[in-house]
Amino acid sequence: MNFELTQLPVADIQGDIEVIIVIDKNTDHAFVQDKKLLKKAGFEGGQDETSLLVSKDRLYVGADSTLSKDIRTAAANAIKALNGTEYRSIKVATYLNSSKCTNSLRAMVEGFILGAYTFENYKTKKSKKKIKHISISLEEYNGYDVDIEKASAVIHKAQIVADATNFTRNIVNTTPDDCYPDVMAGIAETMAGETGLKYNVLKPKELRKEKMETLLAVARASRHKPRVIHLAHKPKDAKCVVTLVGKGLTYDSGGLSLKPADFMVTMKSDKSGGSAVIGIMKAVAEMNLPVEVHGFVGAVENMIGGDAYKPDDVLVAKNGKTIEVRNTDAEGRLVLADTLCYAQQEVQADYLFDFATLTGACVVGVGNYTSGVMGNSDTMKSLVVDAAKRSGELATALDFNPYLKKTIKSEIADVCNISNTRYGGAITAAQFLSEFIDEEHAEKWAHIDIAGPAYVEHAWGENPFGASGAGVRMMVKLIENLVETEED
Ligand code: BES
Ligand code: ZN
Ligand code: ZN
Repeated sequence: MNFELTQLPVADIQGDIEVIIVIDKNTDHAFVQDKKLLKKAGFEGGQDETSLLVSKDRLYVGADSTLSKDIRTAAANAIKALNGTEYRSIKVATYLNSSKCTNSLRAMVEGFILGAYTFENYKTKKSKKKIKHISISLEEYNGYDVDIEKASAVIHKAQIVADATNFTRNIVNTTPDDCYPDVMAGIAETMAGETGLKYNVLKPKELRKEKMETLLAVARASRHKPRVIHLAHKPKDAKCVVTLVGKGLTYDSGGLSLKPADFMVTMKSDKSGGSAVIGIMKAVAEMNLPVEVHGFVGAVENMIGGDAYKPDDVLVAKNGKTIEVRNTDAEGRLVLADTLCYAQQEVQADYLFDFATLTGACVVGVGNYTSGVMGNSDTMKSLVVDAAKRSGELATALDFNPYLKKTIKSEIADVCNISNTRYGGAITAAQFLSEFIDEEHAEKWAHIDIAGPAYVEHAWGENPFGASGAGVRMMVKLIENLVETEED
């Protein structure tokens, strides 16, 4: 999909169809020319409601306000409404929330790209009918003047971040026997070659040398050998250092603590954290942000077999801590333990974030659409929650407490991989991870449990059925904010 920016009014530019956003049901606004027709069609202008007037080549879509969050989903729903039609190009005006701030323009472009996403790799018939071209006029809803250069830069950033999100969605949606650890590493390597990122991969031999025995234990029963992927963006003018770590379980059967049939379906999405890290790295490289960013992915498949690791095993993590395994389905934290240790050994970071579809408990606690943000530092947690909200993602902080921390104690090892209570599972999993964060990084770390939003079996907002690319937009925004001050 390509974008073109022009100072000409919408009426004077080319486009198969015009998209008009109706703000706060205000059908009296000059942009709304078809009052009677819209009334006849039953259009009330509610958020995301669409009405396609084929005879006029106009599509109306409602938005509650010109705030980014409303414009983003309105744009996504507009483009979805045009899927399968004969229209190939759109023309649209600019909708801003204030005279100085172009966030809503970025949101509109993101909404178009994210809303147009479909995953059809496993369909024999692919849909050809899609919007290819979007012309954006700087004619502005509130009459604000928009600087064309600034607008053009904003559109470019929106394209990068939305394309990276779709890139992550593609990895996650790919089935487990088409995307196993070596394939994931290959995807990262190809992307690194295209964007100029540095790439390194650890295979079993190196993983053994690095003493990553907990990661190797989880991987042992699979015919697909594990990989730890390292991508790095190292600009000369870097202002600070960020490390990202992702859970890349290309399949989570639960292992010997086998998941029930209904819970196993969708577990190809257990690589969402790692896939998000790869997507974030792509965007950071393409934006060429003046921040040194490292991405580490622990790519492993959790399977059953004669060689499987077991409940009752005691494993030694890379940092020497011993772990009593009581449930092989709590495997993500084991893979992350070693990957976090390795990442901290390799890089002294100012910020350390990990992304993981870590617990069903997080989904129970905060629902399908929201990520849980945990860690020792309130500052770090707020940084993530704020960036998420600005980026169009939902995230909320969950607090650690010393009483829950006691529930992962083990009688026979340093720590147990599950808690002894059924409650607070997202937090106890994160507290387990905190055992593998060294002192220097303790206040610089936040863990983001994306188990809810990473993969949902229905469309929501600007997200399709399946993978959403959770984590990408929030983290790119956070990294941008480290070097730029926001306007609003
Ligand atoms: N990958 C799952 C968590 C998950 C559940 C992600 C639902 C997405 C949707 C993780 O490895 C897991 O199985 N966690 C267990 C932990 C339990 C054994 C302590 C869980 O959440 O049930
Ligand atoms: Zn599991
Ligand atoms: Zn898992």
